[in-house]
Formats: sequence, C-alpha cells, structure tokens
Amino acid sequence: MKIIIINGPNLNLLGKREPEVYGSTTFPDYFLQLQQAYPQIDLEYYQSNIEGELIDKIQEVGFSYDGILLNAAAYTHTSVGIGDAVKAISSPVIEVHISNTFSREAFRHQSFISANAKGIIIGFGMKSYELALQSFL
Ligand code: DQA
Repeated sequence: MKIIIINGPNLNLLGKREPEVYGSTTFPDYFLQLQQAYPQIDLEYYQSNIEGELIDKIQEVGFSYDGILLNAAAYTHTSVGIGDAVKAISSPVIEVHISNTFSREAFRHQSFISANAKGIIIGFGMKSYELALQSFL
C-alpha cells in the first residue's frame, strides 16, 4: 500500500515552531517512527512552502497512490487551487491538522479541502497523522 504525507507551509519548522501548539518533535523524527511502526505501508513524505508545488505533487501522486494524508497548513484556509486539486484526483485524501483549528482563530475554521476529503482528523497533535494512516488499514 502506497501512502504519502504531504505537508504545507511552515511544517518544515515542526519541533521549533510554536511548540506549545505543535509540539517539540521534528517531522523527520516522527516520520521515522511511523515508518518503523507501519513497515507494511510504503510511506512517503513531501513538504513544500509553495502552493503550486503542493498542487503539482497532489496531481503527480493522485491517480496512482492508495492514499494521501494532506496537511496543507495555512493554505487549507486560503487555497481554492489546492481544494480543486483534491477534487480532481482519484486517490482518497485525508485532511490532517495537528492543532484543533476550530478552537483557534475564526479564519482557521474554513477549509477549502474538507468538502472533497474522504475524512478529516484534527487536533490530536502529531498523532493525527497516525490516526489518519490507520484509517487505510
Ligand atoms: C495546521 C493548522 C493551520 O491553521 C496552520 O496554518 C498550520 C498548521 C495544523 O496542523 O494544526 O500551519 O494545519
């Protein structure tokens, strides 16, 4: 089973960025733990701070991979383009957020991805990715 985690802007700073909100683990460290815990899954990771690059990656993998865990970060709340890309592809997308976006500022309550996601996992810290991954098993 081939699954990719796609992370959007500023998630390359996990571990250093607002640790009270996002925790103190770096994503590469967490990703290694996931790979070790789920050796039966062919798991990939991609991160970009650039909206168009995220769209390119969604299009590239979106007709052949078994699933996409997408944390589009701030673009979740602004990007019609990423929302349209999720709608255009055939691979199922789980929208993931580390923090509970609904307990934060009002602008984080809107998502251009949710309507076309297979499911949404929000607010369980880094564990949100693992819960989303388990939904494919
Ligand atoms: C986030 C929530 C977004 O509102 C924010 O812009 C992020 C991270 C999360 O995982 O909690 O960068 O997607």
